[in-house]
Amino acid sequence: MQTAKTISEVRIAVRNAQAAGKRIGCVPTMGALHAGHLSLIEKARQDSDFVVVTIFVNPTQFGPSEDLSKYPRPLQRDLKLCEQAGADLVFHPDVPTIYQKEPQITVSVGDLATRWEGASRPGHFDGVATVVTKLFNIVGPDVAFFGQKDFQQLSIIRAICKDLDFPIEIISCPTIREEDGLALSSRNAYLSSASRKSSTVLYQALCLAEELTQRDEFTLEQIRHKMHSLLLSQPGVEPVYATIVDTERLEELEQRQTKIVAIIAAKLGQTRLIDNMIIRL
Ligand code: PAF
Repeated sequence: MQTAKTISEVRIAVRNAQAAGKRIGCVPTMGALHAGHLSLIEKARQDSDFVVVTIFVNPTQFGPSEDLSKYPRPLQRDLKLCEQAGADLVFHPDVPTIYQKEPQITVSVGDLATRWEGASRPGHFDGVATVVTKLFNIVGPDVAFFGQKDFQQLSIIRAICKDLDFPIEIISCPTIREEDGLALSSRNAYLSSASRKSSTVLYQALCLAEELTQRDEFTLEQIRHKMHSLLLSQPGVEPVYATIVDTERLEELEQRQTKIVAIIAAKLGQTRLIDNMIIRL
């Protein structure tokens, strides 16, 4: 496995792989890799011939109250895991390599970035969109892999490719869960043991939404209420939102469609968890 810290090293490695006829796959990450990330690298290994993993803790997607300096950066461990999972190249630039001093151009996302996660993290998705656009320009992949767990991020990345004409196939990879249903996330480590017990209710509320949307006796509004009530039934769980939206613009739905997504965010102590489930009717 190769590693690169500069843009030119990445471009040379990718150009060589392309010259050998290889299909380039990219897995953007912020490091501190867990089994969810490794499943993306493994999927990239299956679906492409040259797998580029990027590890970059992107400062522009952190809000002023979010502690960028405390974000874990276990680089040596991450590199080992990337190698075991089948990466060919890991790009781990420092901040000045990615961001010029006082950049004049950034990517700004429309109203898709203002709801749900965007409502409580202003500027977050503009930061994600800017860095993903830059990483796509640096790596130039044919295909890129993202977890379904961050569903709003995934929708925004699809919109970047559509609206900014990137010829990149975006593959959504299934959420990896603990045995009791909790979606894997680096934030799970911050849960107290009581919150960890309560946390399974997020997945249960999504399963409830799936079950009830498949039956006709409840409106989507009633189902939303039932999701909320179930979340509130667990000690220490504070719902932020629990609703059913369309899969592209993530607008709240009043009527069923053939493909919908139930999305949830809840606070458990200081930890905010998100999860979602795509439902086909
Ligand atoms: O999902 C993440 O880890 C990040 O938001 C991403 C896509 C790597 C951009 O920094």
